[in-house]
Amino acid sequence: MSTSSNPHSTDSEKYLFIKTYGCQMNVYDSDRMIELLAPLSFKSVYTPDQANLIIINTCHIREKATEKVFSELGRLHRLKLKAKNEGRQLLLAVAGCVAQAEGNEIISRAPFVDMVFGPQTYHRLPQMIKQAEELNNTNQAGARIIDIDFDTEKKFDELPVEVTSRSSSFLTIQEGCDKFCSFCVVPYTRGAETSRSPEQVMREAKQMIQRGAKEIILLGQNVNAYHGTLNNRIECSLGRLIRELANLNGLDRIRYTTSHPNDMGDDLIDAHGDVPQLMPYLHLPVQTGSDRILRAMNRKHDVSSYLRVIDRLRNARNDIAFSSDFIVGHPGETDQDFAQTLKLISEVEYSQAYSFKYSARPGTPASTKKQIPEKTKSDRLQTLQQLLAAQQLAFNLRTVNSTQPVLVEKKGRKKGQLVGRSPFMQAVYFDGPENLIGQIQCIHIKEGFANSLAGKLVCREDKSPTSNKNETETLKGAHV
Ligand code: SAH
Ligand code: SF4
Ligand code: F3S
Repeated sequence: MSTSSNPHSTDSEKYLFIKTYGCQMNVYDSDRMIELLAPLSFKSVYTPDQANLIIINTCHIREKATEKVFSELGRLHRLKLKAKNEGRQLLLAVAGCVAQAEGNEIISRAPFVDMVFGPQTYHRLPQMIKQAEELNNTNQAGARIIDIDFDTEKKFDELPVEVTSRSSSFLTIQEGCDKFCSFCVVPYTRGAETSRSPEQVMREAKQMIQRGAKEIILLGQNVNAYHGTLNNRIECSLGRLIRELANLNGLDRIRYTTSHPNDMGDDLIDAHGDVPQLMPYLHLPVQTGSDRILRAMNRKHDVSSYLRVIDRLRNARNDIAFSSDFIVGHPGETDQDFAQTLKLISEVEYSQAYSFKYSARPGTPASTKKQIPEKTKSDRLQTLQQLLAAQQLAFNLRTVNSTQPVLVEKKGRKKGQLVGRSPFMQAVYFDGPENLIGQIQCIHIKEGFANSLAGKLVCREDKSPTSNKNETETLKGAHV
């Protein structure tokens, strides 16, 4: 492909722009696509204007997410026409979960798209691009490439060996879901549940650490259902994998997301008590506080079993903070059901949480049931979010006057300001030199806000992993 009409590129250099929607697993996948395409001379850029390849990595979880993709594609079509006028080749690709679920609809609604591929086939991207370029060069109108198989195992075998990394890096260890909650598209877009081998995970983790990662966030749609086999014979649960990772030099922090309450095994809970690198924050979605709606959702846990898991975790590590996902307005939800969700939230006291109005998704069982009026959903969401916001602020205020080890991630919005994460995932702002990015620094917390903390740098050496004991002491008097 010639890109000579592009003023910024040479014949051999092409520009790749990826826009990522959805969950962290999509962020991980987008990073891998950038690496896959680097040997083909694609350089990743931050704007689409001069790109030769644009990939939209999509999310299908709620209706709005899908509609965003189609309006984005409208804008990209105009860019493609502009590129054509300038004599520059621009290939458009739709990847991710909308591609998987609605591949054929994309082709018919947006016939100018060159490639459509799902989350389990992007390792074949180099071949797809070659084919798309050939089709473009030979002007075969209407011919599109669509690749939406499910071959997860192969994907991980064929991904690049050299991974890039950030100070906090995502590492996908498990894909797909077999749980089939009534409302959710993930089992249809990501396929059946599979785990990567511990050896492959360890190899990738080592590379991330070598390239500067201080924190690794293990990812999976049901990450705590992870089950690998170590050295082809020893069962390896997520708890065991975390212990293996904790032995790696240079890895200061380990997190994992997203977990299902039914898959919180004893060894994983114990790991929270005795692996100092495992951070004291857990995203453990409950969705609703009503047993009736949990049954309708096919969640296979009830409120009391969820609360027991929370208790066991708090027994293992008394300062652990929790977040959750909530859905309001699932078909069948009454005012009483909703009141039980508020009750559960008051009981648990979350440090933060995500909440959504139920969105009917094609092909899911709940979408065929009688729907709750939009106004009811909006009112409930507002009430729920007020309570969650109050809990988040209270949690943030309780950290004021403590000193927190903060993993510095990037520059803040104001001049001279940096931002990082506390062990509890709070965003912490403070003034400091840019060379601290990528390090763990002690920050004395001065103020707490709705979504962040402000503090002052107190020491400037790299801090070793926070131990359970240290952490508890740090927060003594800060926690109620
Ligand atoms: N695997 C995770 C969550 C995956 S999706 C789990 O089991 O908890 C992320 C969140 O999106 C879900 O926890 C749920 O709260 C929300 N979600 C999923 N489908 C939805 C829908 N149809 N409408 C509204 N929210 C939804
Ligand atoms: Fe979706 Fe339920 Fe699977 Fe989570 S556990 S991904 S909510 S089907
Ligand atoms: Fe969205 Fe797919 Fe993730 S539907 S939430 S991008 S698994």
